[in-house]
Amino acid sequence: MKKNLILDYAHTLLKANISKIDIVVDATMGNGFDTIFLSSLCNKVYTFDIQEKAIEETSRKIKELKINHVELIFDSHENINNHVLNYKAVIFNLGYLPNGDKSITTHALSTISSISSILPKLPVGGFIQLVIYTGHDEGKKESIAIQSYLNHLETDTYKVVKIELPFQDNYPPYILMIHKVKDEN
Ligand SMILES: C[S@@+](CC[C@H](N)C(=O)[O-])C[C@H]1O[C@@H](n2cnc3c(N)ncnc32)[C@H](O)[C@@H]1O
Repeated sequence: MKKNLILDYAHTLLKANISKIDIVVDATMGNGFDTIFLSSLCNKVYTFDIQEKAIEETSRKIKELKINHVELIFDSHENINNHVLNYKAVIFNLGYLPNGDKSITTHALSTISSISSILPKLPVGGFIQLVIYTGHDEGKKESIAIQSYLNHLETDTYKVVKIELPFQDNYPPYILMIHKVKDEN
């Protein structure tokens, strides 16, 4: 087990749901840990961030590891569909870059705009994974807004799974998996 149980669970869920033929998007590249993990599971990873620091750090890591099937994209996750035509899954690890500028964080409006543009493009069997942090103000707003958006999804088409640490102090992160189980009408 890794030090962060929720991140460990998030990776276990990715392993269970992604195969070697899949194309997957990391919507929030950050320091590249999730991107590199994804690259070990699938055929191709497209990874996005709006900070040069994230691109530089992840680019350095994938070169060092000689990983060739990762494409780094310096753009907001709101524009995923402008860069990638098909994908099995999109993952979001929300919030700000660890050890980076805490003012550059994900935001409720743009995260929801991305989710709503991704869902119709997912194949049946595809999914979005979100790791959500409520220990900072924007994260709290984002968490509430995402849950209220998901509450209105068609439940025959999308099944949402939540994994959390209900009895722990200090606002631990939690996971939402949005599985597409049927085509939209
Ligand atoms: C918690 S970090 C991600 C950690 C990362 N998955 C890793 O393995 O290191 C969140 C990242 O989201 C990025 N971000 C914020 N808004 C974004 C947006 N609209 N589009 C893409 N990335 C964004 C931030 O710059 C930050 O690097």
